[in-house]
Amino acid sequence: MKKIDLTVNGRKHEFEVGDQTVLLDVLREDLDLIGAKQSCDRKGQCGACMVLVDGKAVRSCLAKAVKLDGSEVITVEGLGTPDNPHLIQEAFVLAGAVQCGFCTPGMIMAAKGLLDQNPDPGVEEIKKALRHNLCRCTGYKKIVEAVRLAGSFLRGEKKPEDLYPEPDAPMLGVSHPRPSAMIKACGVARFCADYKIKDALELAVVRSPLAHAKIKSIDTSEAEKMPGVAGVVTAKDVKGTNILKYIKSDRPVLCGDKVRYIGDPIVAVAADTRERALAAAEAVKVELEPLPVLENIGQAMAEGVVQVHDDIPNMCYEQPIVKGDADAAFAGSAAVVEAEFQTQINHQAPLEPEVTVAYWERDDDEDKLVIVGRSINIHLHLGMLQEAMGHENMRYEEAFVGGQFGIKIDVITEGIAGAAAIHFKRPVRYVPSLAESMLASSKRHAFNMKVRMGADENGMITAYANDLVVDNGAYYSIGHVVVLRALWMLAGSYNVPALDVKGRLVYTNNPWGSAARGAGPPQQNFALESAVDMLARKMGQDPLEFRYKNFLQVGQSGSTGQAVEQWPIPALMDAMRPHYQRAVEEAKANQGATIKRGVGLACGSFGIGGPGDASVVAVELDDDGGVSIFAAAADPGEGNDSMLTQIACEVMGLGMDKVRLNTRSTDVTAASGPAAGSRITYMMGNALIDGLRQIKELMAETGAKTGKELEAAGKPRRCLGRKKNIEATPMDPVTGQGPNFETQVHAVQMAELEVNTETGEVKVIKMTTAVDAGTVIHPQNLAGQLEGGMDMGVGYALREEYVAGETSDWRNFKFPTMATSFDMEVVVLETPRDTGPLGATGVGEMCMVPTAPAVLNAIDDAIGVRITTLPATPEKVKAALAGAGA
Ligand code: FES
Ligand code: FES
Repeated sequence: MKKIDLTVNGRKHEFEVGDQTVLLDVLREDLDLIGAKQSCDRKGQCGACMVLVDGKAVRSCLAKAVKLDGSEVITVEGLGTPDNPHLIQEAFVLAGAVQCGFCTPGMIMAAKGLLDQNPDPGVEEIKKALRHNLCRCTGYKKIVEAVRLAGSFLRGEKKPEDLYPEPDAPMLGVSHPRPSAMIKACGVARFCADYKIKDALELAVVRSPLAHAKIKSIDTSEAEKMPGVAGVVTAKDVKGTNILKYIKSDRPVLCGDKVRYIGDPIVAVAADTRERALAAAEAVKVELEPLPVLENIGQAMAEGVVQVHDDIPNMCYEQPIVKGDADAAFAGSAAVVEAEFQTQINHQAPLEPEVTVAYWERDDDEDKLVIVGRSINIHLHLGMLQEAMGHENMRYEEAFVGGQFGIKIDVITEGIAGAAAIHFKRPVRYVPSLAESMLASSKRHAFNMKVRMGADENGMITAYANDLVVDNGAYYSIGHVVVLRALWMLAGSYNVPALDVKGRLVYTNNPWGSAARGAGPPQQNFALESAVDMLARKMGQDPLEFRYKNFLQVGQSGSTGQAVEQWPIPALMDAMRPHYQRAVEEAKANQGATIKRGVGLACGSFGIGGPGDASVVAVELDDDGGVSIFAAAADPGEGNDSMLTQIACEVMGLGMDKVRLNTRSTDVTAASGPAAGSRITYMMGNALIDGLRQIKELMAETGAKTGKELEAAGKPRRCLGRKKNIEATPMDPVTGQGPNFETQVHAVQMAELEVNTETGEVKVIKMTTAVDAGTVIHPQNLAGQLEGGMDMGVGYALREEYVAGETSDWRNFKFPTMATSFDMEVVVLETPRDTGPLGATGVGEMCMVPTAPAVLNAIDDAIGVRITTLPATPEKVKAALAGAGA
């Protein structure tokens, strides 16, 4: 150990550090400066840990403390506070660059390092300076804009106060700063790993290296003797069912008899430090007897193969759609295209690892177990955990969450942390590495789709067939819901008179699939929009005009027979037309010998919530005439805090400071349902308005202006607002006909890109989205969702793939970076939805539904080659070119 002096945020400190101690640990562990985050297992890949050392932006996970003796360190906390922020922090908030906020402190410190040297950087200089900083939410556009805005503040050309909305600014259509943005920009919002609990045990988990095996024996004797080890937890120590039941009872907290995918958890080891827990986990001996591994749907569906689960067949769900007479329609078609499309298993890739903290708090005479995690459905997860762990007295608290994109529709590490907390009757922290978070969590399902599409001589679509098989992986999770969502939206934006569709779901020994931004539609829309493009090109028709004339019209029905009522997509295509014409002209004018430019379109019509969906929101009139909202409305970055606040302000005529949100604990919130399916704005917004309507009626009836006055008049100050969607009737098991969505969000997207025909590299130049999400509540949040979604969608189209046993960090996952970011434009139309809250609807998932097909259609436009499997890597593009004789 060596003594060093550091001046941190202006204060001098002395530390004893070892050779391997890094600055990040000194800041977080010794000084509780939680602004610097860790995403990437200290590989220098994420930039979330960025601070200034002697004026230079440095990744604190790479900086050995012993080498910093006498240095001056500034962290994000040293710049400003929520009450007195630095101009860069204000710029990030005002530019809408803060979504989940996990990357934000690191981004701000990298920006500070740059702006101190160069107060007027250009876009390329900003991208270079922030090249080590990753963001999954924003697509980087608003981050670059924030740095430019910060520069203009620092140069005195603009003032923050001129950019904040006026106090009397409208509540709808104005980007009031998000309620949580400034605490995230100042690094004081607590994410899971920022919870420090005295005497907490740290956990490490032994996971299966095999994809399918029987557990023959577990020997923990060596591990239990190691220094600092408190003990181990295995399946037999879990008090309840040991099953995390979502739809099927198939996923254990800890595996007892069998493992079903690489990463299945077997033993948890608890010790006084994380390092000791990890060392002891290495000493656990698990004897596994390998079973045949079902690597794909073909193997899993074969006759006589091993079953992944004893009591559920591998082919575990099936639903057809039969509409019209597809055979006759194909027979009478003037043109038919046919192809087999394949999408990859992918990681949702939130920046924050899958951390859980569990501790005990005194509740009357009993100790209550508190689980602090990243859930987007805290009430459902609480119930799952209570059953699995056999423990009733619990609450779930959602910490600030560094993105989730569907991954947190499931319990991931909470069961293990909770079981250990109960077993040891101690607080525990389970802080898995990024590599382990990837192993532990669900993935986007891989789809295999054999499709045919026909059109008549006028270019009107006659029929669509899709034999769609979904690789469910090892556990069911929301399994068939993903198939259903794909089927509900199967015909997308189009009028397709005849459908012949089979949807199937199959267990394999791949990572378990679950929700992932869009959950089904991004996969099936890739096939649909590719087929539409192929058909247009085969018939020699312009892809835009072909789409335009095939759009559904009001009164016509989608794939499940429900007639559409509001369908603004033709207007969106009209809005896209001039952009498309410009892009096509530019592409023509910029063709090189090696570099070919292409333009691709794709549409998305995305259902919000689902049939039978319901939500409740409790509201209270406060004693100052403000309102408190009690709703489990998780906000892992989308801006639900803005949405709820601005709707309440609009309905009640209040200022933002008079609306109080209570959204994070099961003890105080109504069970409002998951932050999934893009449902929060539509479902909770409507439930909120219902609750506020009741409060207003009581106020009008009594003349009361405050909660106290309401109570004095004998009325409750608290009302429960509700929203229930059209009745859920199961799809007809033979035809798949039935109700689906009350409302949709629509978008047309256009990709402009270049293909290098020698290397196969694809470079996206620009993505443009024309979107109609109904009434716009918060323009920045709307654009932010679209920009982040397009960035994610391009990654999905070109690079990203999760390969079990291989993908272990952001580099080999091919996480989108500043270097891969591209120009983006968002065109917004507003068609207030008849049933939406103040006319609004959801948007968070649709933003990537058209992206992959738009990109693949643009590749075809550029080089005349159709790629049918995602991602379209350089190798695939080159191989396809070679196959086409190019
Ligand atoms: S934790 Fe330092 S770069 Fe990722
Ligand atoms: S705001 Fe950048 S990772 Fe979420």
